[in-house]
Amino acid sequence: MWTRNTPGRTRWIVLGAAALWMLLGAVGELPVARAAHLTGTFEVDEFFRFLHKFGFQKTEKHSQKDTEWDTFGYIYGNITSSVNFTVPVTLAVLDKRSFLEYYANRNDYDRDVACQRMFEKLDKIVYSRACNPHAEADYLRRIPCEPGKLCVDEDTRENVVPGSQFTFVISDPNVPRFWYVSMVACYQNVSTCQWHHYDYRKYHPEPPAINYDITLVNGNPNRQTLSFFNPLLFHFSFDQQNTLEMYLIFFVVYLLMVPLQIYAVRLQKHPVTRLFTVSLVLEFVSVCLLLTHTVRYAMNGVGDEKLAIMGDIFDIFSRTSFMLILLLLAKGWAVTRLQISVSSWILLMVIWIPYCAIHVLLYIWNRTEVDIISDIDEYQTWPGWLVLACRSTMMLWFLWELRTTMKYEHSSQKLDFLLHFGASSLVWFIYLPIVAIIAVNVSPLWRYKLLL
Ligand SMILES: *[C@@H]1O[C@H](CO)[C@@H](O)[C@H](O)[C@H]1NC(C)=O
Ligand SMILES: *[C@@H]1O[C@H](CO)[C@@H](O)[C@H](O)[C@H]1NC(C)=O
Ligand SMILES: *[C@@H]1O[C@H](CO)[C@@H](O)[C@H](O)[C@H]1NC(C)=O
Repeated sequence: MWTRNTPGRTRWIVLGAAALWMLLGAVGELPVARAAHLTGTFEVDEFFRFLHKFGFQKTEKHSQKDTEWDTFGYIYGNITSSVNFTVPVTLAVLDKRSFLEYYANRNDYDRDVACQRMFEKLDKIVYSRACNPHAEADYLRRIPCEPGKLCVDEDTRENVVPGSQFTFVISDPNVPRFWYVSMVACYQNVSTCQWHHYDYRKYHPEPPAINYDITLVNGNPNRQTLSFFNPLLFHFSFDQQNTLEMYLIFFVVYLLMVPLQIYAVRLQKHPVTRLFTVSLVLEFVSVCLLLTHTVRYAMNGVGDEKLAIMGDIFDIFSRTSFMLILLLLAKGWAVTRLQISVSSWILLMVIWIPYCAIHVLLYIWNRTEVDIISDIDEYQTWPGWLVLACRSTMMLWFLWELRTTMKYEHSSQKLDFLLHFGASSLVWFIYLPIVAIIAVNVSPLWRYKLLL
């Protein structure tokens, strides 16, 4: 199997692969859309429920409702309960500035005090027929609404999206912005204008439940004609509006590459080529899954969470198997020697398998535990930094192995290959920390658009 030509070919394969991987490594960097069509139940003993953070696009100057140039954002839906509430609780749709303080005060031990603090600043700017009739901001709705009727705060039927009980129209004339949707068990006493905790124990034997069905979209939801509907933008939060196109591009590239690679591996039964094919096929599967999720998401605003998670996990396996190839090559496998000793194999597996496991665990931790409200992306969280740390450790090990291999190699041709190989692999190892550092410094609204 080892011939004089092999280093040339292998070099070509590895350099090409590393370059391609840096290009396509971006797949894992793309955000996976979380549902913008929310359904669920809020039990008031929970006190506070954060529902969603959504980026609304900048509204065009001459935007008009119900025209093709309607670039407003819409939040609409139904909120009902099978129980009659003595006083209604509150649905709040806030921009970041108003949200931060409101959110920070939710944990006060005394719920009445929490309610008062949460709404202290908001009270000055938010419209309320009884308490603040001259204010402009339309941020709150009293919920639940009576089944089959509009919510009490909706006084003009034309403003409400047909088939729903309430509608917020979001207009951001200057910049795109994130808006935060939440529910809280607080009510305003309309005679004193004070905020209080809705203590269900005073009125109900059991905590009453509120059912919600809320949709957030960029663009007009009254789609009488198809031209209203831009599937690439409509259901997507502003920061994720180009993900579908990106996945389509990746899909096409892989669709060309995978058959080529499979053809190549049949001609050249080189172990490196084989492993690389495995890694490539894994990534292709990942792209297919993520693309399917994103297409479904574009149609209904929900997508398929299971597909998205599987796609991400395939992506992790693909990257880690590529790392295994690099480590094997650094050991000199298929370059300076055909076989690797059993002890080397064991050492490699003892490090590599836990590395894969840690990667997956950190991914799960990141999905479940990390506070989705803060403007963080993957690399500004603990799990993200740990992934980076592991990867950097692997890189050091890789360099050390490579150095050892080169020390005992005297053929200048092979040394030359190892040098090129080391350089291109280093770039692959290092690009992720660089992406992370850039990401930290870019506004989350623009992060993915700039990085891709
Ligand atoms: C809630 O109030 C409405 C009218 O105010 C009444 O028709 C309905 O029976 C009440 N529902 C319950 C569960 O008490
Ligand atoms: C929402 O409520 C309206 C009536 O107010 C009803 O026609 C519509 O079917 C409801 N939609 C959902 C999804 O429950
Ligand atoms: C609102 O405040 C008034 C005056 O303090 C009180 O009589 C009334 O019971 C309060 N209403 C509610 C729903 O707490």
